[in-house]
Amino acid sequence: MKGIVLAGGTGSRLFPLTKITNKHLLPIFDKPMIYYPIQTLVEAGITDLMIVTGGRNSGDFLRLLANGKEFGLKHINYTYQEGEGGIAEALALTEHFAEGKKICVILGDNIIEGSIKEAVRDFEGQERGAKILLKEVADAERFGVAEIEGDRIVGIEEKPARPKSSYAVTGIYMYDGTVFDKTRTLKPSARGELEITDVNNGYIQEGTMTFNYLNGWWTDAGTFDSLLRAAQLVHGTTHKRAPALAAAGREIRK
Ligand code: G1P
Repeated sequence: MKGIVLAGGTGSRLFPLTKITNKHLLPIFDKPMIYYPIQTLVEAGITDLMIVTGGRNSGDFLRLLANGKEFGLKHINYTYQEGEGGIAEALALTEHFAEGKKICVILGDNIIEGSIKEAVRDFEGQERGAKILLKEVADAERFGVAEIEGDRIVGIEEKPARPKSSYAVTGIYMYDGTVFDKTRTLKPSARGELEITDVNNGYIQEGTMTFNYLNGWWTDAGTFDSLLRAAQLVHGTTHKRAPALAAAGREIRK
């Protein structure tokens, strides 16, 4: 499966932090934000990557990531989104890279504690359609929210005032090759963007959408509060792991 990291947009909700740089290059504890979603894909065995960037600082991604040696990669593909047309518009730019095959898409500001390996394996075995990952949250109105009946999602609402469940649709999406037929039919939403939620609802209407629950913590980092929270979560996890790593080091030195 190929992987796509969406890292365009102007990051207007983080202004003035994003006045002179791209949101996805801002620090989350000890690494630039985009390191985390790349790591999530690579850890799941997805190593053929394309990064969609944009804005005035797109050249910095190449300087920072180069060919991905730090992640054990030999090469990274890049493409450029002009303006702020939304997540689905950014995704549409990757059609030539996907070559009609299955893809795993991750938003450049989505950071997780755990692994998506199992979900990726499940989707590899799924004949067609899409898969999304859900996480229970206390502030569902900030996200795409899934309405669930039994073991099926019957609809997703983007940032509803009255959420029908407490399950947020995380920014990790798996699609078959028909996703680009769906992005072609989209119309801009009230916020003037092509919405990924409309793409997902297309799969739901077709009856080909599946979902998994994401283990461990999940956060986005597109607002001041969530940016801080992301750093705190990463910091907490790093410190939790530190004693184990130190012990492992002692073992090796013995
Ligand atoms: C986007 C999606 C939303 C999803 C969220 C996850 O929201 O539109 O459905 O729940 O990412 O991070 P945005 O960050 O564009 O407001």
